[in-house]
Amino acid sequence: MVRPMVDRLADKVIVITGAGSGIGAHTATICAQAGAAVVCADVDLAAAERTVASLAESGARSLAVQVDVSNASAADAMAATALEAFGKIDGLFANAGITGEGSVTSVSLADWNRVIAVNLSGVFLSCRAVLPSMVAAESGAIVATSSIGGLVGVPNIAAYAAAKGGVTGLVRQMAVDYAPSGVRVNAICPGTIPTPLVVSAYKQRDYIAGGVDEAFARAASRFPLGRVGTLDDAALLTLYLLSDESGWMTGQSLAVDGGVSTAGWQVGQ
Ligand code: NAI
Repeated sequence: MVRPMVDRLADKVIVITGAGSGIGAHTATICAQAGAAVVCADVDLAAAERTVASLAESGARSLAVQVDVSNASAADAMAATALEAFGKIDGLFANAGITGEGSVTSVSLADWNRVIAVNLSGVFLSCRAVLPSMVAAESGAIVATSSIGGLVGVPNIAAYAAAKGGVTGLVRQMAVDYAPSGVRVNAICPGTIPTPLVVSAYKQRDYIAGGVDEAFARAASRFPLGRVGTLDDAALLTLYLLSDESGWMTGQSLAVDGGVSTAGWQVGQ
C-alpha cells in the first residue's frame, strides 16, 4: 500500500459519507494517516463505528455518525454533529452510494427513485449541509464519487448512470457557484474496484457464477492497464483533491479507471 506523506491534511476536518465500507472506509484511513480528523458517516452505524475503531488504533481523531444521505434532516444533523465535535469542516467526501441495475425498460420506478435519491440527491443534500460553514470560512474542498458510468455508456445501469452523470453536472455547477467563496468541488470517477457494492451488482447480473475472484479476473481484461482498481487508486486521488495540493482545481470529474473510459468499455471483450 502506498503511504501518503503524514501531513497532507494536517489540522483538517474531513467528513466522509459511506465511510463504513469499501472506498469510503479506506479513504477515511488514508485521510487519518495524512493528519485529518475524520467524521465517518454511514447509514450502517455499526460499520462506521468499525472504521472509527480502526482509525483510533493509530491515534487519529474520528467520530462515527449515522446518516441516510437521502434524508435532508439527517444530512443536516451529520454536518451539525461534525461542527459540534471539531468546530469546522474543511472537506467533504460525498461518497455514499448504492448499485443500480437495469435498463430504462427493465428498471422499476421505485428502484430508479431510490438510486437517484441516494446517489444524486444524497450528494446534493450532503453538500448543502456542509457548504454554509465552508462559505463562512471562505475555504473548503468537496469531492463527490461519480463513476465511469457518469462519463461513458456502460450497459444496463440506467438509473445509476443518470445519477452519476448528474453528480458530474452538479460538481461543475457547485464549482462555479462557490469558487468566489473559496470552496472547490471535484469528483472522482472510478472504474471497477472490488468492494461489496460491485459484488452485489455482479450477483444481480449473474456474472459471478465462477466465483468472485474469477469474475474480477474477467473484469480486469476490460481495462487497458490490465487490472481492476484498488482502494488506494480511489483514495489517493481523493486525498489529493481534498488537500491544498489541488488548490487550483475545481469542477473536474477525474476518471481513475485503468484507461477504460478513454479506450472504450468493450476493450478486452
Ligand atoms: P460499498 O458498498 O463498499 O460502500 C458504500 C457505503 O455506502 C456502505 O458502507 C453503505 O452502507 C453506505 N451507504 C449506502 N447507502 C447509504 C445512504 N443512503 N446513506 C449513507 N450511507 C449509505 O461500495 P463502494 O464501492 O465503496 O462505493 C462507494 C462509492 O463509489 C459509491 O458512490 C459507488 O457508486 C462509487 N463507485 C464504486 C465503484 C466500484 O467499482 N467500487 C466504481 C464507481 C463508483
